[in-house]
Amino acid sequence: EPEIIRNKEQMRNWTRSMRAQGKTIGLVPTMGYLHQGHLSLITEARKHAQLIVVSIYVNPGQFAANEDLSTYPSDFKGDIEKLQSTPNGVDVVFNPYNLYDYGEERERSGGKKREKEGGIVSCLEDERGGGFGHETWIRVEGLEKGMCGKSRPVFFRGVATVVAKLFNIIEPDVAVFGKKDYQQWRIIQRMVRDLDFGVKVIGSEMIRDEDGLAMSSRNVHLSPQEREQALSISRSLFEAKSAAKKGKNICSELRRLMIESIEAAGGKVDYVEIVDQESLEAVKEITNGGVVMCVAAWFGKVRLIDNMEIDVP
Ligand code: PAJ
Repeated sequence: EPEIIRNKEQMRNWTRSMRAQGKTIGLVPTMGYLHQGHLSLITEARKHAQLIVVSIYVNPGQFAANEDLSTYPSDFKGDIEKLQSTPNGVDVVFNPYNLYDYGEERERSGGKKREKEGGIVSCLEDERGGGFGHETWIRVEGLEKGMCGKSRPVFFRGVATVVAKLFNIIEPDVAVFGKKDYQQWRIIQRMVRDLDFGVKVIGSEMIRDEDGLAMSSRNVHLSPQEREQALSISRSLFEAKSAAKKGKNICSELRRLMIESIEAAGGKVDYVEIVDQESLEAVKEITNGGVVMCVAAWFGKVRLIDNMEIDVP
């Protein structure tokens, strides 16, 4: 049975008392609706820390007004059951109600939370964090520009900011992120380095379904037909990788092939990029590996991302 903590103070007190007992703490941040991909991060975290905290929090700060905050799937009870069935389980589930509610605003407005019906609004509907007076945002200026940052201009500032908040509240020694969200992982790594957070960031391998589809909480929104079509993403990545290994190393060519096969399957490509694994800058030619091919594409109303590394031979 993991302990469920909903309060920031209580969370920080827990970490501090465990650390006083000499324990190390690993954090796995999530937005819930857990699947094998999330659970694999917990297994990874266990290798690096004695106690594991999983946070489950759908962060309104990383959704723009027109995005899927209101339909983002959730199943807290199911999540807890899945966490119980993972080897060794987890020690704490941190499930705050609203990380942008600092209390003061509520007092000033006479006890009324300036919250919209149905919960917390996304960051763009109200520039100041949904009416709670939040106005501090972290931007990792270079790494956030391309790929997902282009089509989702406030996404990474929301991610970096909430992860910084989680680091400050939970004070973990180690935090594990999935390489499924490759740009996100690199952005968090850079933020931690640039701002001297005392947290070791670990990138953990992506988990796919048997048919190759990258596991994602959003897959639940795909119709059976869209799910079939969406397999074109991983297929095109595998094909491009093997073509690259055989010497087809011109990135514009590889990208064109990937775009064509995803669109032929019925997807709408947001981007296909081949970038350096660290700088995330586009490369023209794959000479020595060290690149990652990244894809985002729409199938109906669902936007999916996937990627594949090509390593130095
Ligand atoms: P979420 O999409 O729930 O993902 C939580 C973590 O699980 C991320 O580190 C993500 O990369 C990882 N993950 C998701 N699918 C995976 C897969 N198929 N294989 C391996 N890892 C996978 O990413 C977020 O939440 C949020 O942006 C968050 C970091 C929690 C900040 O709000």
